[in-house]
Amino acid sequence: SGVKHGDYQCNNAMVLWAKIKGKQTGFRGPPAVGQRVSLGATIRLLPRNLEPTSSNPEKETASPLAEAIMKNLPPSEIIESCSVAGPGFVNVVLSKNWIAQSLHRMLIDGIDTWAPRLPLKRAVVDFSSPNIAKEMHVGHLRSTIIGDTLARMLEFSHVEVLRRNHVGDWGTQFGMLIEFLFEKFPNPEEVNEAAIGDLQAFYKASKLRFDSDSEFKLRAQQAVVRLQGGEIRYRNAWKQICEISRTEFHRVYERLGVQLEEKGESFYNPYIPSVLEQLGNKGLIEESEGARVIFVDGVKIPLIVVKSDGGYNYASTDLTALWYRLNEEKAEWIIYVTDVGQQQHFDMVFKAAKRAGWLLADDSLYPKATHVGFGLVLGEDGKRFRTRNTEVVRLVDLLDEAKSRSKTAVLERDAAKDWPEEEVDKTSEAVGYGAVKYADLKNNRLSNYTFNFDQMLNDKGNTAVYLLYAHARICSIIRKSGKDIEQVKKNGKIVLDHDGERALGLHLVQFSEVVEQACTNLLPSTLCEYLYDLSDIFTKKFYSNCQVIGSPEETSRLLLCEATATVMRKCFYLLGIEPVYKI
Ligand code: ARG
Repeated sequence: SGVKHGDYQCNNAMVLWAKIKGKQTGFRGPPAVGQRVSLGATIRLLPRNLEPTSSNPEKETASPLAEAIMKNLPPSEIIESCSVAGPGFVNVVLSKNWIAQSLHRMLIDGIDTWAPRLPLKRAVVDFSSPNIAKEMHVGHLRSTIIGDTLARMLEFSHVEVLRRNHVGDWGTQFGMLIEFLFEKFPNPEEVNEAAIGDLQAFYKASKLRFDSDSEFKLRAQQAVVRLQGGEIRYRNAWKQICEISRTEFHRVYERLGVQLEEKGESFYNPYIPSVLEQLGNKGLIEESEGARVIFVDGVKIPLIVVKSDGGYNYASTDLTALWYRLNEEKAEWIIYVTDVGQQQHFDMVFKAAKRAGWLLADDSLYPKATHVGFGLVLGEDGKRFRTRNTEVVRLVDLLDEAKSRSKTAVLERDAAKDWPEEEVDKTSEAVGYGAVKYADLKNNRLSNYTFNFDQMLNDKGNTAVYLLYAHARICSIIRKSGKDIEQVKKNGKIVLDHDGERALGLHLVQFSEVVEQACTNLLPSTLCEYLYDLSDIFTKKFYSNCQVIGSPEETSRLLLCEATATVMRKCFYLLGIEPVYKI
C-alpha cells in the first residue's frame, strides 16, 4: 500500500526507555508478553512526510521495548499491520476494511455517532461580552466568533455548555449616563432607541458634559450611589439604557447565528460581599494603600478586590462570577474568551481561586478555568482595524459590507443568473458571514490577523468561499449521478483499493480525534486546517485520480463523496458557517 511509515505511530517505547534510564534501579528488562506496562504517552498521530530520524545508538536501545509493545498489542480489526522503525517507533497501519466500514456506518447512523466524549459534563463559555453604551468593537466580534465555535465543538462532544454573555452593564459610567438621560428626557416614557439614536454618541456627549461641568459630575457620582442603592427611578433608567444596547448587540448575534445567554456583571453584584467574606475568612485578603487586595504567586502587584473608595471592580465581579459558576452552576470547565490584553487579569483571578481552594493547582484536572486569548484585528496599514473616518468599526456595517461584496461576486457567477432573489440573498449571507468567520478562525487565535475583504472573499486559497464551493461541487457530483443516495447507502459498499480512496477515507475517520484535539486545546484553527486538508485530499488525491460517475466503482465512490460532504458540513456547522449546496 502507499503507507510508508504507518498511519499512526506510538512513541511510548522511547518515553519508557527515558524513564527507565532515569531510574536505572528496578528495571528488569523489557516487559514480558502479557505483562502490563503503564504507558507514558498515548498513541500519537504520525506527522505527514516524516522520515524516521537518523539513528541514534543510545536511543535505539528502545527498540526491544518497542518490539515488546508491538507483540503485546491485542489483536484488533482496526489494525492491518505494525512494524518497529527508527529508534523505537511502533508504526501502525489501519485496516482499510475497518476504515470503509466506519465510513459506511457513519453514513447510516449519522455523523453525531462520531462525536468525541470529553471527561466533563458541563462548561461555561464566557464570550462576546461587550460593554453597555460603549462600542461593540472588532475585538468583541473575535470573541463572539471564537467563543461560538468553542461552544459548538463542546456541545457536539456531549458537554452541556452555558453560553454566557458577561456584559459590562455595571460601573461608574452609568451615573453619568443616567443623569444625562434625565436631562435629555425629563419624561421617561419618551426614551427609546429612535430617540436616543446612537448610544455610543450618547455616551460621548454625556462624557463631554461630565468632564466640563463639575455640578453635573457631582450629580453623576451621586447617581451611581443611588443606582447601587436600588432607587427605583435610577434602576429604571439603567434598565432602559441596557435595553437599547441589547437590541443593538442582538442584531449582530442574529446575523451571525450566535446564541448567548446574558448574565452581565450586575447579576453577580449581590453575591460579591459574601464571596469576599469567604476569601477574607481564609486569610487571603490584605490591606494595601487603602484598598483590599489579594496577593498571588509570581505577580508583584496584587489583585484589587475592593477599591480604596469601597467600591467593587472588574476583579471582584470576576472572582464572584467564577465562584458562582463553580458552586451554583456546577460547571467543571470555565472558559473565558477575550483579547490577550486581559491575560494577566485572568491569570491573577485563577491564582486567587487556587489559593482559595476553588480550583486545583494542576491545570490538567477538572474543575478548571482557562483563558482563551486572541490577538488584534489589524487593518491594511498594520494598525488596529478601523473603517474610513469613524474611529471604531460598527459591526453591523462590517457585516453589511461582507454581504454586499459577496453578493456582487455571487451575481457574477453564471450559475446564479436565474436564481430567485431569495436564493441569491441567502447564498450571499452564507458566503459573506462565513468568510468573515473563517478568516478569523483559521489563524492561530493568539496571533494578530489582518482584516481584508478581498482576501477573505477570494474563491481560491484557504478561504470559506473556496471551501463552500468545494462542498457544493461535491453535492453536484452526487446530483449529476442521478442516483438516490439513500438507496446507495442501503445497498452499496465502500471499497478503498485505490491509494486516493484510502487517503480520503483515512482523513475522514480522523474527524473525531481532530474535534477532540480542538476542544482540548481550545484551538478552532485545528478544525479549519482539517477541513482545508479534507478538501485538498478530496480534489488532489481522490477526485483527480478516481473517476466517479460511470466507473465500475461508482457506488463506492459516490458514498465517499457523500461522506466527504457530510464531514465538511459538520465542520461548517462547528465553525458557525452555513453550507451552500449549489454554485
Ligand atoms: N466586558 C469585557 C470587555 O469588553 C469582557 C468581559 C470578559 N469576561 C469576563 N468574565 N471578564 O473587555
